Amino acid sequence: MTRPDGQDVTYDPGLLAAGAAKWARSAALRAVYGDIFCDVAARLRPGRSLEVGSGIGVMKQTIPGLVTSDVVPTSYADRVVSAYALEQGGEPWANIIAMDVLHHLRRPLVFFASAAAALEPGGRLLLVEPAATAWGRRFYRCFHHEPCQPEEVVPPFEFAPGEDEFANMGMGWSLFETNRDFTTARLEILGLELTEVAYRDVLAYPATGGFSRPAVLPAGLLRTILAAERRLPARWRRLVGLRMVVVMSRRP
Ligand SMILES: C[S@@+](CC[C@H](N)C(=O)[O-])C[C@H]1O[C@@H](n2cnc3c(N)ncnc32)[C@H](O)[C@@H]1O
Repeated sequence: MTRPDGQDVTYDPGLLAAGAAKWARSAALRAVYGDIFCDVAARLRPGRSLEVGSGIGVMKQTIPGLVTSDVVPTSYADRVVSAYALEQGGEPWANIIAMDVLHHLRRPLVFFASAAAALEPGGRLLLVEPAATAWGRRFYRCFHHEPCQPEEVVPPFEFAPGEDEFANMGMGWSLFETNRDFTTARLEILGLELTEVAYRDVLAYPATGGFSRPAVLPAGLLRTILAAERRLPARWRRLVGLRMVVVMSRRP
């Protein structure tokens, strides 16, 4: 859906209440998402942190003091903020975090420009995104309703406006793997440096059932699987990870 001011809103706010109810009753979901949030927390620099596209805002449970936001007003977000206009918030941020937001943006490079302008020198932009790895492509194409087509995400990474929801789960892989040279050159112009691309989530995450299906394994067992996944060599996780964690730093 496109708002009257031209911002594309790609998430049905009506789903939020159902998502919050699922979060409250699923220990499995909380175990795996909590682990992802800890991964984010470990990469933060000291200072004020803003989350963009917070959805039901549960990252705040792991990162106290996190300022949540969304592009539409919701009862879960502290502020209304567009990913394309982060610099309009005033004081610069030490960290800007976006989980599962990038692949909904028709103009990802405009988002990076607005984040660069909103970060303090040395500040970090942290993304958690679906990863179109060898396993990720198969998994998302079979079990997820949104398209996973990294081959359709090509420079200059501008997607035509439209009425329909926009999503391409291949966005992160295309930007940070297939077209990494193009992306890093653009980031350089914006004053951002790509400092990390890491992969995670192989089996424990699908076993939670996500927000739409029941979990198939209990939370305790999922924690054991997560610990085992963490011990996989990085090059294996790049083949079978379902999510990627991307870190960019604003040059001093
Ligand atoms: C798939 S949801 C992810 C929600 C949450 N971060 C999570 O991981 O559960 C995508 C979120 O991005 C938000 N969003 C979409 N377009 C946006 C934009 N242009 N600016 C800021 N947020 C946006 C949606 O409103 C929604 O909350």
